[in-house]
Amino acid sequence: MENTALFPALGGFAHGGDYNPEQWLDRPDILREDIRMMKLAGVNCVTLGVFSWSVCEPREGEFHFDWLREVMDSLFENGIYTILATPSGARPAWLDRQYPEAMRVSAQGVRNRHGVRHNHCMTSPKYREKVRIIDRELARRFGRHPGLLMFHVSNELGGACWCDLCAEKFRDYLRDVFHDDIEALNRAWWTTFWSHRYASFDEVEPPYANGEGSVMGLNLEWKRFTTHSMNDFLRFEIGVLRAECPDVPVTTNFMTLYNGLDYRRMAPSVDVVSWDSYPRYENDYESLYETMAENAFHHTVMRSMKRDKPFMLMESAPGLVNWHEFNKVKRPGTHFLACLQAIACGSDTAQYFQWRKGRGSFEQYHGAVVDHLGADDTRIFRETAEVGAALKRLAPAAGTLVKAKAALIFDWDARWAIQDAKALAESTKRYEETCIGIWKEFLRMGVEMDVVASDADLTPYRLAVAPMLYLLQPRTAANLRRFVENGGQLLATYFTGCVDKDALCYLGGFPGDGLAELFGVVSEEIDTLYPADRNAVRCTEPGWGEWEVRDYAETLRVADAEVLGSYASDFYAGTPALTRKAFGAGHAYYMAARCTPAAMRPLFAHMLADAGILPRPLPEGVEFHLREGASGAYAFYLNHGAEPASLSGETGVELLTGLPVSGSFTIPPKHAVVIFRHKTKR
Ligand code: GLA
Ligand code: ZN
Repeated sequence: MENTALFPALGGFAHGGDYNPEQWLDRPDILREDIRMMKLAGVNCVTLGVFSWSVCEPREGEFHFDWLREVMDSLFENGIYTILATPSGARPAWLDRQYPEAMRVSAQGVRNRHGVRHNHCMTSPKYREKVRIIDRELARRFGRHPGLLMFHVSNELGGACWCDLCAEKFRDYLRDVFHDDIEALNRAWWTTFWSHRYASFDEVEPPYANGEGSVMGLNLEWKRFTTHSMNDFLRFEIGVLRAECPDVPVTTNFMTLYNGLDYRRMAPSVDVVSWDSYPRYENDYESLYETMAENAFHHTVMRSMKRDKPFMLMESAPGLVNWHEFNKVKRPGTHFLACLQAIACGSDTAQYFQWRKGRGSFEQYHGAVVDHLGADDTRIFRETAEVGAALKRLAPAAGTLVKAKAALIFDWDARWAIQDAKALAESTKRYEETCIGIWKEFLRMGVEMDVVASDADLTPYRLAVAPMLYLLQPRTAANLRRFVENGGQLLATYFTGCVDKDALCYLGGFPGDGLAELFGVVSEEIDTLYPADRNAVRCTEPGWGEWEVRDYAETLRVADAEVLGSYASDFYAGTPALTRKAFGAGHAYYMAARCTPAAMRPLFAHMLADAGILPRPLPEGVEFHLREGASGAYAFYLNHGAEPASLSGETGVELLTGLPVSGSFTIPPKHAVVIFRHKTKR
C-alpha cells in the first residue's frame, strides 16, 4: 500500500457504503445480522449518520447518541470502520417549526414548508446555530473513536436559497466583487440596456424566476454567489468539526457535473474529494462501453480536483436505483466492472448507497446490498462479495495515483455562460457533451486525460484541449499562452474567448484577451446550422481525410497561422477551418467547426506525437487506466464487451488471479485484469 493511501488503517481500499441502523433500532437481530453479512461481503467501512438528526436530537436540546456509540463500537470490534456524517442534510420537524427561517425560499420567493431534505437556507444564523450544536456533539463524542476514518459533511449539498437573508448576502458579495463601486457593476453588466441601471447596491435583487432574468452578468454572478454561499456553509460545518478534531479528514459528496455548484471552488475546502455515481447502465441508446466511458469522465473530473491524492467513490447503487426513468437492474458483472473502474480511475474506495433497503418511504425500492429478502445468497449480495474479495487482492494499489500528461479544460463558468447566452441553438449548444465526447476519444486511444479548470496549473501537461471556452476567466488567456510557450500542444475550438468573466463581449475579435494572437486567427462569423445542414472540413495533411461538419462553423480571418483544413461547401467554401500556429516551443491549433471526435482522431494523434505521449492501442470496448506508485504501476484493463478481449505488451503479475503475465493476455467478457508492473522489471 502506497503512502498516499487515504485510509492506512484499512490496509487497502475502503469497501462499504451508507448504513442507516437508526431505521432498525427496534430490530437488534437485524443489526447483528448486518455485521455478519458485512463481514461476508468484505465490507470494511460504512457511512453512519446521514439524515439521522431526528433520532440524535428528537427534541431541541435532547440528545440520544447511545445507539450510535453501540453501533460504532460493535462495527469496530468486527473490523469495520466508520465515516461519520453530520446530519445537516435534513432537518427534524421541531427545528423548522421553531425556526422557519431555516427553511429555504424558492426562486419565486416562496418559503418552503417542512419536509423532504437538502433544502435549508445556507445563511440563516439560527440554522447554523442548531447545526453547530449537533455537529459539536458528534465531534466531541465520536471524534476520537478508534473506528472513525473521517467526517462527511451533510449530503449532496445543492440548490439555492432566495430568502431575504440570502439576497442581502448576495448584495454584500457584489459589493465585494465590485469594490463597492456601483458604476463598476453597471459597466460590467451593461445595465444601460433596457434601462437596467442601478443607483446603489441596495437595488440589486437576485434573478428571481418572476424577476430580472435578462442581465447575463447578474445571472452568472448569482450562480457564483450560490457556490460561494454553499462553500461558506460547508466551511462553517468543517470549522465546527476541526475545532474539536483537527486531525480527522473531512469530505462532502459531490454529484457528477452538478450544474448548480462550481465544485472547483469547493474542493479546496475539503481534505478529500468524494462523489456519487449513478449511470444509466445497460440502457437502450448506447453500449455499456459508452456509459462506462462517460462515468470514467466523471471520475476523472473528481480526481483532477486533487491530483496529489486518491478520491473517493462515496455512493453507487449495488443493484438498481429508484429514480431513473427506467430502473433497470445492473446485469451480471456490471457492478464488478463499475467498482473496478472507480479504483482504476484513482479512487481509494468503492462505496454504495445503501447497505440495506429500508421498509418504507421514498427509497424503499432503491437498490442495496441487502434486499428485503434479507438473504446472503442473492445475486447482488454475491456480486458485492466478489468486489470485496477483489479489492483485498488489489490492496497494494491503494494510494497510487493516475498521472495524466494530457488535460481537457472544462469550466463551470464557461458552461453557465454558454447556457445563458442568447446565441447559437439551444438544442445543439451541448457544451458538456462536446467536452465529454472529445475526452472519450482520448480514452479510446488509451490516453489518460485529466479534466481541469482553464486557470488551473497546466505545468503537469503537454497536451490540452479546450472545447468551446466561451468565457475567459481573468487568468485563462495568460495561462494558455504560457502553456503553449513552454511547449504545450493546445487545441481550441469554435465559440472560444467571446466574453470576459462578466459575460461582456470582447472587442476587436474573438478569441479575445490576446488569444487571437496565440492562435493567429480571428473568428469573423459563427454559423449555426440547422440539424439537417452539413458542411465538411477538407484537411490538407495527407491521410487526415474529410471531416463532416454539423451544428457550428465559424469563418476565420487568418493572420499568421498555417491552414490545415478548409470548408468544403457553402458561401465560405475554401476558407480556413482548421489552423495551427507555432508559438514559443509549442503549437496552438484552432478548430473552427464542430466535427465528431472520431473524425478528428488524426489531429489528436498528431498532437499526442508532438507532445511525446504514447497512446495505448486497445480493442473496442476495452478501457485502460494506469495507477502509479513508488514500487511500480498498476495497469487496469476493463472489458465492457460481451466477448473476451486479447491484448499484448504487459509483463507483470495479474493481481485478481495472482498469475504471471508476460506478453499477451486475455480479458474475459465483462471483467477486468489488473497487472502490476514492478518497477525494477521495467
Ligand atoms: C443520492 C443521496 C442518497 C440517496 C441516493 C439514491 O446520492 O446522497 O442519500 O438518496 O442518491 O440514489
Ligand atoms: Zn436563505
